[in-house]
Amino acid sequence: MIITIDGPAAAGKGTLAGKLANKYNLAYFDTGMVYRAVGLEMILGGYEPSDAAIAEDFAKNLTFPRMIELSQNPIFRSLEGSKAASAVAAIIPVREALLQMQQNFSKRPVFADGTSAKGAIYDGRDTGTVVCPQADIKFFVTALPEVRAERRYKEYLQKGIASDYQEVLEQTIARDKNDFARPSSHPAKDAIIFDTSYLSIEEVFAKACKIIENYQKTLEK
Ligand code: C5P
Repeated sequence: MIITIDGPAAAGKGTLAGKLANKYNLAYFDTGMVYRAVGLEMILGGYEPSDAAIAEDFAKNLTFPRMIELSQNPIFRSLEGSKAASAVAAIIPVREALLQMQQNFSKRPVFADGTSAKGAIYDGRDTGTVVCPQADIKFFVTALPEVRAERRYKEYLQKGIASDYQEVLEQTIARDKNDFARPSSHPAKDAIIFDTSYLSIEEVFAKACKIIENYQKTLEK
């Protein structure tokens, strides 16, 4: 079973994906990591993230182990890292170079320890539209920018990352503008939309579980 969860930053995709992966024993692919990895390569190499030729080169050479290694760097999930990820993600050849790596995972999904899984859950922006258009179930999770910025800000505080709410809000809005300029980031036609502005993660999780279990019942028939 392949499930995709797309939507803007800090809408609750990762939390929902983690809970579903746990409950249904699915491997999890946070596809934002491939863009964060290329963005961080640009930062570490001293390049402008918008430098298309260099970013494409890093994207073509990115491997899973290198991505995991880069994810240990504190810049990876910082505001600077997010901004660089969003900038490299706007470069079409970078997206093309990273597509195969994301698609291969659905053919042979694996857990973090390398053991194989019966299915995968993806989270990102275009996983239901481009990466896995054949997915069994597609969710699109969204929330108001102010709600998402508040969540991200609290997350940074918890992790001890210095930040400022106003700056996080401005960056959330700027990243939305950048990410949603691409039609592929808009919900797939067959996506089920959840707005987490006024729904708790538990409520969204319960709704998603019901949809998955109904789907599984149709397979048994
Ligand atoms: O989800 P996350 O915030 O980690 O993603 C970082 C950036 O990577 C996003 O702002 C977006 O520009 C890009 N991205 C993308 N397509 C995906 C996942 C992430 O363009 N499937």
